[in-house]
Amino acid sequence: MAQSVGRPQRENCGTCHFYGGGGDAVKHGDLDSSLIKVDKNLDVHMGSKESGGQDFTCVRCHTTTAHHIAGRIYEKPASIDRKSLLQNDLGDKIMCESCHGAQPHKAGGMSAKLNDHTDKVSCQACHIPEFSRNQPTKMSWDWSKAGSLMDGKTEVKNADGQAIFMKEKGLFTWEKNVVPEYFWYNGTLAHMTTEDTFDPTEEVWLNRPKGNKDDPNSRIMPFKVHRAISPYDKVNKTMVIPHLFPYGKDDKTAYWKNFDWSAAIVDGMNYAGQKYSGEFGFVKTNYVFPTTHMVAPREQALSCSECHSKDSRLKNITDIYLPGRDSFKLVDTIGWFAAGGALIVIFLHGIIRFISSRKRKED
Ligand code: HEC
Ligand code: HEC
Ligand code: HEC
Ligand code: HEC
Ligand code: HEC
Repeated sequence: MAQSVGRPQRENCGTCHFYGGGGDAVKHGDLDSSLIKVDKNLDVHMGSKESGGQDFTCVRCHTTTAHHIAGRIYEKPASIDRKSLLQNDLGDKIMCESCHGAQPHKAGGMSAKLNDHTDKVSCQACHIPEFSRNQPTKMSWDWSKAGSLMDGKTEVKNADGQAIFMKEKGLFTWEKNVVPEYFWYNGTLAHMTTEDTFDPTEEVWLNRPKGNKDDPNSRIMPFKVHRAISPYDKVNKTMVIPHLFPYGKDDKTAYWKNFDWSAAIVDGMNYAGQKYSGEFGFVKTNYVFPTTHMVAPREQALSCSECHSKDSRLKNITDIYLPGRDSFKLVDTIGWFAAGGALIVIFLHGIIRFISSRKRKED
């Protein structure tokens, strides 16, 4: 074994990170098995040399010090007492700027305008126009449809061979070439726990990008938003932890054996030491994944009008004035006054110059 020790390849890290959530491309829209053998068109960094890419491994960017991998984004780490390989404090951050700098575009002309954006707009926002460009990613998951059959079957697949229904898990949708949703992001995500309460009449954000327009460390960042319908505690208005995997043949509560939500939730919440009222319902839940891999070749970067137009991609970003998208009456009027005012000043200036030069000649 010692003789085969080497730098980890994309496939090694991918064994876990491409298959999170129970299968290929279920969780992340920018990390799936198509990154093992990859064309530059999908990822300029990990793309093969033959296709013009850099053939980067994951650890070319996710540098490690003593088994601590850079690039962690959790605000609340999954474990605090038990040290994981990834240490429990926030590890080093890696950024596109680490290699390219904050002003990567040519000075002068339209390119120079791009450099003006990098203090507010993330590199990823312009350079990852769509994610899951090679194979579809799971975009929604309806748990409330689990437990029964669809057209008399326990599993139904789409033309790509991906399950769109499973008796254990419910109903799914998959999408390819997905346009991301954009949020302010300072590099950390806030996570909800089973102790946080919410308003079940609204979409519940299980995690949320942190950041805002006034924070110099925040940028507008692209995300995959996975939408689901999940069980929750109707009385306490909290999320629940159902017991899913059966321990063995005699397990009486596991959902994936008995298909009884009530028994599975009672047992799961007991095990986790959490309060449960005994009454469950289903609620709309969202989960965000930052989009940072699958950087496209430069020619595919967003054009100005993708953001600066009436049907801008930046629908979620409502707290800034975006030329071309927003036309506030007042701002427009002030703009016209400013332009008109300048003309009047120039005109007056001209008349004064004219009069004074005549006076000088007369003298
Ligand atoms: C070109 C550089 C680069 C390469 C190559 C790269 N990553 Fe990343 N990765 C990043 C950056 C930048 C972030 C954002 C880190 C942060 O916010 O601190 C990130 C974030 C992550 C995250 C955190 C969650 C997320 O979705 O953003 C995971 C997990 C991850 N990368 C895994 C991988 C794996 C696995 C590979 C190899 C298949 C890989 N990365 C290759 C640059 C890279
Ligand atoms: C055996 C499965 C496994 C392998 C192999 C693996 N990881 Fe991970 N990785 C995880 C798990 C699980 C977590 C979450 C850990 C936690 O919260 O403590 C994680 C977390 C991360 C994070 C932080 C993600 C975040 O959202 O904050 C990064 C970055 C990362 N891994 C990169 C890598 C890289 C690069 C490799 C290859 C060198 C790799 N991982 C190999 C399972 C794995
Ligand atoms: C470990 C260093 C490293 C990191 C981190 C990194 N890059 Fe690169 N990137 C390179 C190298 C090397 C090239 C190829 C040489 C070049 O074109 O500058 C490249 C090329 C590019 C290109 C040009 C691709 C083309 O069309 O040829 C873009 C765009 C780009 N990177 C964007 C990004 C973005 C966005 C991030 C963050 C998600 C990032 N880079 C992170 C090293 C890096
Ligand atoms: C507002 C959108 C936008 C932002 C933000 C942005 N880029 Fe670009 N980038 C572009 C466009 C468009 C091009 C293609 C320009 C061209 O070909 O002249 C480009 C080209 C590049 C290139 C190829 C070199 C070149 O001059 O053509 C690299 C490398 C690059 N960007 C990296 C980055 C990095 C790193 C960041 C973040 C620090 C970033 N970009 C932020 C839009 C953007
Ligand atoms: C990813 C979306 C996006 C793209 C693509 C984009 N912009 Fe912007 N632009 C923004 C945002 C967000 C702001 C507001 C930034 C702020 O408030 O500082 C902005 C601000 C501006 C402004 C006013 C503020 C300033 O810095 O002068 C101009 C002018 C501008 N952009 C021109 C352009 C041009 C020209 C292009 C194409 C080369 C372009 N933008 C591409 C998002 C974008």
